[in-house]
Amino acid sequence: MNIKINPFNPNATVSTNLFAGRKEQILRVISKLEQVKNGMPASFLLVGVRGIGKTALAKLIRFVAGANDDVLGNLNFVTSYYSVESGQDIGSALQFSLNELTDQLPASAMDVLSSSLGKLFKNGKFSIGVFSAELEARQSEEVIALKDQMVAVLTKLVDTMRSVQKGDNKDGVLIIIDELHNVSNLNFCAQLFRGIATTLDVKNKGFVSFILIGYEETLDEFFKHDASARRLFDVINVDVMPKEEAKEVLIKGFEQIDVTYDEAALDENIMVTGGYPHAIQMIGYNLVDADSDKNIGKDDWKSAIDKTARELQTKEFADMYNFKGKNTLRERILDILAVSSRPLKQKEIADLCDGKNIYQYIAPLKKSHSIKSNPKTDTVELHSHLFRMAILLHILPRIQEEGYLSDVISEVEGKS
Ligand SMILES: Nc1ncnc2c1ncn2[C@@H]1O[C@H](COP(=O)(O)OP(=O)(O)O)[C@@H](O)[C@H]1O
Ligand SMILES: [Mg+2]
Repeated sequence: MNIKINPFNPNATVSTNLFAGRKEQILRVISKLEQVKNGMPASFLLVGVRGIGKTALAKLIRFVAGANDDVLGNLNFVTSYYSVESGQDIGSALQFSLNELTDQLPASAMDVLSSSLGKLFKNGKFSIGVFSAELEARQSEEVIALKDQMVAVLTKLVDTMRSVQKGDNKDGVLIIIDELHNVSNLNFCAQLFRGIATTLDVKNKGFVSFILIGYEETLDEFFKHDASARRLFDVINVDVMPKEEAKEVLIKGFEQIDVTYDEAALDENIMVTGGYPHAIQMIGYNLVDADSDKNIGKDDWKSAIDKTARELQTKEFADMYNFKGKNTLRERILDILAVSSRPLKQKEIADLCDGKNIYQYIAPLKKSHSIKSNPKTDTVELHSHLFRMAILLHILPRIQEEGYLSDVISEVEGKS
């Protein structure tokens, strides 16, 4: 049997050698970590929708932070990555994070921790966030207790690993926490992290950086109870990839398995993904799957796009759009938003629907996350590029053959 190796996988995190693009975001974080190395603390929030590449970016940053690479800032941090489970509290997530760090410490450092941290470090393991029932009833005191434990541990950790024998010593600590929206006590996290960071800073132990990862909505909840924590974090918005970066993702995968590719076809078709990494991985997977002559050409693109669209239509988007039956007004509204190159006002959509009453559809579409609105500009747009792609692929034949929505396309282009 001939088993084909496929370098693409939309359901796993890309390996370091196949990671593409994001240079600007990476450099921004690296330059800050170079400061952390000198005791000036910095922390980050990676924000963006599902499938946009937050986890992949964080894992790459983690790699760079521990690589001690001349070109990339000579960063030699101990690092942890932890993905929070639904309903887990932050104390537990931090405990897992600390325990992941210990693998990277020299044995001599472990001995120092054992003899100096008491209950917080026993038998080579950290134990934090365990409080009496009485304390748990009083949230604000629990935050303070957890903060004190974290400060005690991180202070010792930083002191120890910076002072061990040269060659074994480390620059600082990088703690990455993913899926922040899962944290049960998210409302006290901002205060907690602010407390940890400012206390370490005052004690001249600011060799610590946190990267927290979540959705836009998570951030609002995060800062609701402690707005002043905002200035402590650099917010890094992870957005769709520009065309060249999107192409790079595919090219790296093709090169890895030694297949050639038609450059014109790549250039022409890549933006069907909207620059959305999850979609790029899906297309890449289906391209390699479709190929039979070790050259990714026009035909492979055609079949991969069809296949990806069908996959999306039957899974993620089946309830959001009727891909099988008749076009109702709901589909018409979504079609218009899909072909539009910019967000639209509700009045504009109504005009493009011959003045029909579209307003009753807007609220349910929002509720099902099919569309999202921007109150500042009073406009609506499709919720994701993936969704947009599925609709576009669905209506593309009609656009080409019947000139479907050509009035919308020219109308929208003209005014933007
Ligand atoms: N810079 C990148 N280069 C290559 N593949 C990427 C890149 N960023 C994301 N991906 C891939 O896209 C998919 C979605 O990315 P992921 O990091 O899981 O998104 P998020 O964490 O925002 O939900 C994954 O398969 C991931 O490996
Ligand atoms: Mg993720």
